[in-house]
Amino acid sequence: MAKIAVLGYGVVGSGTVEVFYKNKENLEKKAGEPLDIKYILDVRDFPDSPYADKFVKDFDVILNDPEVSVITEVIGGLKFSYGYVKSALEAGKSVVTSNKELVAAKGAELLAIAKEKNVNFFFEASVGGGIPIIKPIHACLEANEIDEIAGILNGTTNFILTKMIRDGMGFEEALRIAQELGYAEHDPTADVEGIDACRKICILASLAFGKHVYPDNVHTEGITKVTLEDVEYMDSFDAKIKLIGCARREDGNEISIGVFPAVIKDESQLAGVNDVFNAILVRGDATGDVVFYGKGAGKLPTASAVVSDIVSAVKHSDTSRSLTWTDSEQSFIRTFDRFTCASYIRLSADNVEVTKAVIKALFGDVEYLSSKKQPDNELAFVTGVMSEKDTLNACEKVSDGAKILGRIRVLDY
Ligand code: HSE
Repeated sequence: MAKIAVLGYGVVGSGTVEVFYKNKENLEKKAGEPLDIKYILDVRDFPDSPYADKFVKDFDVILNDPEVSVITEVIGGLKFSYGYVKSALEAGKSVVTSNKELVAAKGAELLAIAKEKNVNFFFEASVGGGIPIIKPIHACLEANEIDEIAGILNGTTNFILTKMIRDGMGFEEALRIAQELGYAEHDPTADVEGIDACRKICILASLAFGKHVYPDNVHTEGITKVTLEDVEYMDSFDAKIKLIGCARREDGNEISIGVFPAVIKDESQLAGVNDVFNAILVRGDATGDVVFYGKGAGKLPTASAVVSDIVSAVKHSDTSRSLTWTDSEQSFIRTFDRFTCASYIRLSADNVEVTKAVIKALFGDVEYLSSKKQPDNELAFVTGVMSEKDTLNACEKVSDGAKILGRIRVLDY
């Protein structure tokens, strides 16, 4: 009998317990032995819960119980989680977590402890909610060198952008609806500023490229500067604006990585991902593009990934050899000024013809876009592929009564 503990009885924790008991018989067949949740840790009381007898408030009760072999951390944040997870691994217990902040900040260290103690540290639920992506990358695509990963990794911002694109709704109103529907947090900063997506692309990049990528080293922009005007120009370019986290292998064992709103052509599978759905494109050198799509958040989808990891941890108690990466120096990440892509640029011009000549001199041949509500003194265009440094330099040199109103990178997936 494998005994499990669940740390945290919030949305994901209660979903984990619900899915576990709903499918227990089947899970036991897959695990090859009886399973039970022995403890649930939470500071709150749940006297009316059918699991009331399992609640404890003291983590040491769990840590010191030799019967508990798998600990599930679904508290979130770093404050309590880091210490609990580290102690659990050091005590020789496998850990399953949905906590992207923890994995993005401490993954290399925790994987090393898991290896030393010959237990597992699993985190399928930390990226893409119910979408299988961690195991596919390290177990199903291991024959490939992964050249690139790009994803719509945050449901809240995808919901907001979908409202702007489909309904012509402004950012603030779309955010308010996302909050009312429970997608966005009361403080939506981590979602709308790209911080949540950054943690997720860091985890994927660490796994795909084998060295820890820390969020502080990743160029991160959110969606707060995307305007309805930008969205409206996209019809004439057959494209959509999406918040993308991307990481690509570059020459010389470096990677480029970033999170930012990006223009994606309609023919890309990422352009059709709407509402709170997530999608992750993995470009392997043997497979070409593989796209994983589904619900990137929510109680039961996330619990699905957590419970699957619990079963895997019971079935394979020795450390996974493929789910691993090492610690790293920042030098492995190419500075963002060398990132290359095309750009969509919108500007106002005192004299449109003069500004078109300036644009030609600075950016070369560009493709002009149009919008139904385009003011007479406004131009929007897409450049060729340029480095970030050259694009910013060119933008700074825009003159003769022209003023840049917005720029969004254009990605090709
Ligand atoms: N706030 C996150 C999102 C939850 O909107 O995608 C899942 O990580």
